[in-house]
Formats: sequence, structure tokens, C-alpha cells
Amino acid sequence: MPEPRDFKATTANHPAGWDAVDQMIAYHDRTKHHPERYARGPGGLDWATQPNPFRRFKGSPLLKLPLADRNDTPAAAVLFGGFAAPPRPFTLGSLGLFFELSMGLSARKEIPGQSWYLRVNPSSGNLHPTEAYAVLPALEWLAGGAGVYHYAPLEHVLEQRAHRSQGAKPDAAGFWVGLTSITWREAWKYGERAFRYCQHDVGHALAALRFAAAALGWRVALLPEWDDAQLARLLGLDRTEDYADAERETAELLAGVMVNETAEPALSPVVDASDEWFGRANQLSHSHIGWPAIDEAIAVSERKAPAADKYVVPTLWPPPSPPPCVHSAGQLIRQRRSAVDFDGATSITREKFLAILDTTLPRACAPPFDAWPFPPRLDLVLFVHRVTGLEPGMYLWLRAPADAEALWHAFRDVPVWEVPADLAPAVPLRRLRRGDLRDFARALSCQQDIAADGAFSLGMVARFEPVLRERGAAAWRELFWEAGMLGQALHLAAEAAGVRGTGIGCFFDDMLHRALGLEGHDWQSLYHFTIGNPVEDLRLRTAPPYAHLELADGG
Ligand SMILES: Cc1cc2nc3c(=O)[nH]c(=O)nc-3n(C[C@H](O)[C@H](O)[C@H](O)COP(=O)(O)O)c2cc1C
Repeated sequence: MPEPRDFKATTANHPAGWDAVDQMIAYHDRTKHHPERYARGPGGLDWATQPNPFRRFKGSPLLKLPLADRNDTPAAAVLFGGFAAPPRPFTLGSLGLFFELSMGLSARKEIPGQSWYLRVNPSSGNLHPTEAYAVLPALEWLAGGAGVYHYAPLEHVLEQRAHRSQGAKPDAAGFWVGLTSITWREAWKYGERAFRYCQHDVGHALAALRFAAAALGWRVALLPEWDDAQLARLLGLDRTEDYADAERETAELLAGVMVNETAEPALSPVVDASDEWFGRANQLSHSHIGWPAIDEAIAVSERKAPAADKYVVPTLWPPPSPPPCVHSAGQLIRQRRSAVDFDGATSITREKFLAILDTTLPRACAPPFDAWPFPPRLDLVLFVHRVTGLEPGMYLWLRAPADAEALWHAFRDVPVWEVPADLAPAVPLRRLRRGDLRDFARALSCQQDIAADGAFSLGMVARFEPVLRERGAAAWRELFWEAGMLGQALHLAAEAAGVRGTGIGCFFDDMLHRALGLEGHDWQSLYHFTIGNPVEDLRLRTAPPYAHLELADGG
């Protein structure tokens, strides 16, 4: 393995030869965990500065969103492209359901003396660095008019940040959602590696938006033509006066939500000097530890120019064949949880295993990757432990068949490359190694049992340095977003199959690279995941997510 490159902790006055991609790779290397040395962190949790997981903008006008009828969504197959639901009209109710099913609360967990909320979108350490904003056109039912609104999940309200003069039209083609990261929330616990987790979380959230839209018959598309400075202006992140002592937000992405395909497409939102702004951001911790490596990585990976070409997903795969599921889309989305433990015994069938993996394939007509404007750059290296009809061992799931030859050369230490018996060669599964890999998977995942006690676990291996050289350092974030989207698809597919998944951010990057014989930075593993039969922690009580609002409403 080459030596980690030197990391310069300043972006000002770049010396000759300074290169943003080199710097991003240096951050990447510096934040790898190794068995003998973890990435730099705070070395213990300072509970006194634990960040508030809920951002609020005090003084902004509030738009209360209704809570939906919980049984009012189509069958879960709609989430995986099984069919398309008729589009719901754009109303306050459907907007509320869209946010509830993407960024809302999913449960309240309680142990004596302590409670916390879980959300529909997962987050490393349940710290939730991702904030969501709706950019809405003028609508007859929108009292505050066109403008920028921050979604506050605890109260299920939109806080109006900006008002924009605009006449209401009878129908709107759609609206936009901006995502931002409050990196401090994640850095408080995880230190320098936290910026990776923020990006995973953005990917999970983007896929969650896409899945919620599918339940409503709407579509979502990431808009890579927005650069970060434009997005910061649009969402008011650059308004220092509104943040004062509050933790700043990093612009991540803007997505378009298509509600009514027959209406005239709305013009892209523009920031106007006459916009009226409201509200002051709350401070989340009374004091902070600085992480200059994260500040540098934010600056270096900023999208400074629009991404050029938009990728059109080619038809490579047969129609989707997700796990059959009796639940409604809303039920599946709301029941998603991360497994904290697996039983170490239950197997899943090969059909279920393949149906879960099928949901990760990019298809033009299937969420979540129909929202993704780039080619697939991540393939899955699988550790199969308990799948009936499939020998335990290491496998490759080739989401990007164009990678096949390059991976075949790059995997210097895999003994075989074969199609498992009785499998159609078109199924993109290749066996790389036979044998029991439970100890290896556990060790690889920072000794976490969840990587060994389920049916299978996996590492998401990305084509790395060539993508950064071709597209610039901003592509580093895109690779992690794609990984997060994969995680969200796997979460929902596992729920549909009657099992459960968990994202694994704590893993020893180079241990996997070495096992595969990968050298240099052409390929890097960015995120791990595990799926199996969960064991509940019976000490925890689960309460409904929005009981506090129903009580406040007298319900
Ligand atoms: C990027 C990411 C990394 C994670 N890494 C781990 C991990 O290494 N080990 C683990 O047990 N859980 C991990 N999790 C699961 C989170 O702890 C979990 O999502 C969070 O506690 C919220 O719970 P929920 O998913 O049930 O809503 C990870 C989740 C994400 C999104």
C-alpha cells in the first residue's frame, strides 16, 4: 500500500502543484480506520456538548403539516418499480406525507430515564446531520407564498425562511428540496471520519426522498447543475446574520420533485434581492471542538461548477423483481430500523437474497436510482454466511457491468471468478472465494458481531481515483451519496423480505483492499452493510413517533 499523502490543513494560498483531488485523497486516507489505529476522534464523548438533533429557526412563520392517515399508501412494490402509483394532487396533506415518509420521525425509543427519536432516514450514531429545505412555488393553499421553508421533523412543521414575490398558479409541476449537513453533529462523536458519515447520510436522505415520492406517485431527480455557492444562497446558508453563534450548514444538493407531469414545468428558483428572510438558527451545542481536516475537506470537495453531462440509465436489466411484500409503502418506510443484533442462526433463501440485491440495480423506471444522474460507480463485495442454496464465501454483485474487466484485473488475490451453479449468467453475481468468512467479516467491521451473525454482509467498492480525476474533487461526495442510496435501498428491500439491515460505517478500509489484492486508489471500499434476522433489545420500549403532537392537538 502506498503511504498516505500529506494533508495540508489550509486552503488559502495554495502552493504550486497543489491539487484538489490529491487533497481529497489525503483526507480519505487520513480518515481510514486501521486495527492498530483508528481515525482521529475526540477520544471520548463529552455529553455536556452533545448537539441538539433538531435545528429550529426562531422567529420564522410556521406552516403546520397534517399527519397522514397511516394506511393511505399503495403496496410496497411501488417503491422498487413494481408499478407506478397515480400521482397525488399537490396539497398541504401530500406535502406533509412526503416529508413524513422521507425525513420524519419513525419512533420514540425509551428506557427508564431516557428517550430519543428515530427517523425514517437513518444516520450514523443517530446524530442526524442532514437538514432538509423545501423551495416552494406560489400555491393557492400556501399562506406564506413562494419561498424557502425548513422542515422541522419533531414538530412536523415547515419554518418559512424566505418569502419570494410570485403570483400563485392553479397547478404546479413540482418543487425542490435542498439538503445540507451540520457536520458538527457528527464530528462531536466521530471526529475526522465524520465528514464521510455526513455524506452517507445525505445519500440515505436522497433515496428516502425518492422512496417517499414513489409512494405518492411523484418523481425525484438530483439536479447536479446547481453548484454549492448557488445552493447556499438559495437556502440562506450564507446569511451569517441568521446563524450568529449557531453551527453553520454545508450545502450538499438540490433535488427536483415532479408532482404533476402535465403542468408547465416551473422555472428554476432564483434568489432575488427583494426576498424577505425570517428566523435565526438555534445553537446546537454551547461549545465545540474544531476539526480543521473536516473544514478543509468541505472546502476541497465543494462543487464549484455544474456537473456537465447528465447520465441516462440504459436498459441493462430485466424488469425489477424485488422481494414480495404484503405491506403498504408507508408501512415499510415507517418500520425501517437498523438491527442492533442478529440471531446468528437464521438463513434466507437464495431467491430472497437475489431479490434484495435486485433493488440495487440502476433502472430508468425504478427508485431510487432513477433519481441519480450519474453512472453506477459502486459494486458490492458480499460475504455470504447463511443463504440456503448458495455456498458460504465471497461474491461480487456487479451493478456496473462495465467494471467487470477492470475489477477482474484489479482483484489480484481472489482465487476464482465464476458464476455460481444453476444461476443464469445474466445475473450479475460472481463467486470470488469459497469458505466461512464470518470471522473475517467481523474483524473487518471493527469487530462488530452484526457483520458475521446475519445472512450476509458486504462492502461497497467504488471506482475511486479515476472518477475523482475525471470529475474533480466534488465527485468524492457523489461516491458517498451513491453508497448511502445503496444503503437505503438495502434497508427497505430487507424489510420487504422480512429481515433487517444495518449500515456499517466503522470498518477497516485497507483490510478489505488487501484481501482482494487491490492496490493504490483506483478502487476503495466506501460503506459496509449487513442483513439478517434481527434480535430486538427487549430493554427498550418503542412508542409512537408523533404522540406529542396528537396530545397537543387534543387527539
Ligand atoms: C452511515 C452510517 C453508518 C453506520 N454505522 C454503523 C456501525 O458501524 N455499527 C452499527 O451498529 N450501526 C451503524 N449504523 C446504524 C445507526 O446507528 C442507526 O442508523 C441509527 O442509530 C438510527 O437508528 P435507525 O436506523 O434504527 O433509525 C450506521 C448508520 C449509518 C447511516
